Amino acid sequence: MVFESYCELQEIIMKKRVLSGMRPTGRLHLGNYLGAAKGMLELQNNPEYETYFTVVDIHATTTPYDAKTLRQSARDVYIDYLSVGLDPEKSGITIQSDLADLITQLSFYFSSVESVARMQDLPTFKEKVRQHPHNVTMALLNYPLLMAADILIYKASLVPVGIDQEPHLEVAREVARRMNDRFGMDFPEPKRFSTKAEYVPSLLGEGKMSKTVEGSAIDLNDDLDTILKKLSKAPTDSGQGEVVPTTGGVANLFQFVELFQGSPKRAEYESQYTGNGVRYGDLKKELAQAIFEELRPIQEKRKELELDPEFVDRMILEGAEKSRIIAEGTVREVREKMGLR
Ligand code: TYM
Repeated sequence: MVFESYCELQEIIMKKRVLSGMRPTGRLHLGNYLGAAKGMLELQNNPEYETYFTVVDIHATTTPYDAKTLRQSARDVYIDYLSVGLDPEKSGITIQSDLADLITQLSFYFSSVESVARMQDLPTFKEKVRQHPHNVTMALLNYPLLMAADILIYKASLVPVGIDQEPHLEVAREVARRMNDRFGMDFPEPKRFSTKAEYVPSLLGEGKMSKTVEGSAIDLNDDLDTILKKLSKAPTDSGQGEVVPTTGGVANLFQFVELFQGSPKRAEYESQYTGNGVRYGDLKKELAQAIFEELRPIQEKRKELELDPEFVDRMILEGAEKSRIIAEGTVREVREKMGLR
């Protein structure tokens, strides 16, 4: 990075840092987009922030995965990042393993200030143990510390993520406090930056939208037909009642209406619900169209990027170079303060 003037350097130093990441365990869906990517974009496009984003492929190795396809999956998510509007001119955008030497090193240092019991007690750890009982590894236990390293290596104070990541952020704050108290570091205690949709529900009426639950998600690359087919399977009721449901399939559909068609449209459907009744077939068709309209430019951008693999490769390389400068500084400082050479 070349600074035009001392003022520009000063301005960058004063900016609040932001970091967020996503695992390359499949292509991105509306939960990732609404719960995280929209917040990432908002902060990237606000000149008060200095933003870093990463595709966390090392995190993907903490659950069963295919080594032959991981690099490609990480690249695919990197392209998704660029397609939704993350901009390498404005943000440092990396694939995590390009900085593996620094991030895994920092997470190891962090493991000296966290207890095994605390890591075992995390709800996210317990959920993964339930999902993969034969894969309860040290890497899985270490997952939150690797995430703390992703964030604190940039001394980021703001993290745009969905609400499901809050337990991990609590660990990052704990690590920051302890590193500051014990070793005199100046890590900020990172806070979550939430979007309007910090919890995007599953299409199935129960739980959150997720890559691992079949039929729960609309993917960013779904065409209109696929979106309509998926929505048509979303559970509904008779379309009429005294009280508008606040949980379950219908409540979720109304939430999607609000997110993609606005609050007045939601209010219209709600009054139909307590009045003459909602025609879900029509609602789903209109909603599918509105979702597709939002995804269309993202899909077009993706097609463009796929035609220019050299550009993508260059961005990945330059993103790593740009981010490495900051990451190296933090690791050097931690080593010195911890009494290491
Ligand atoms: P991951 O890969 O599961 O999800 C990526 C992002 O998408 C958000 N998200 C959702 N938000 C709202 N509703 C949903 N249904 C939904 N599903 C997913 C997640 O909250 C997340 O923001 N541990 C992280 C990856 C990570 C990370 C980091 C994030 C590793 N290091 C450092 C931020 C900073 C994860 O598994 O996200």
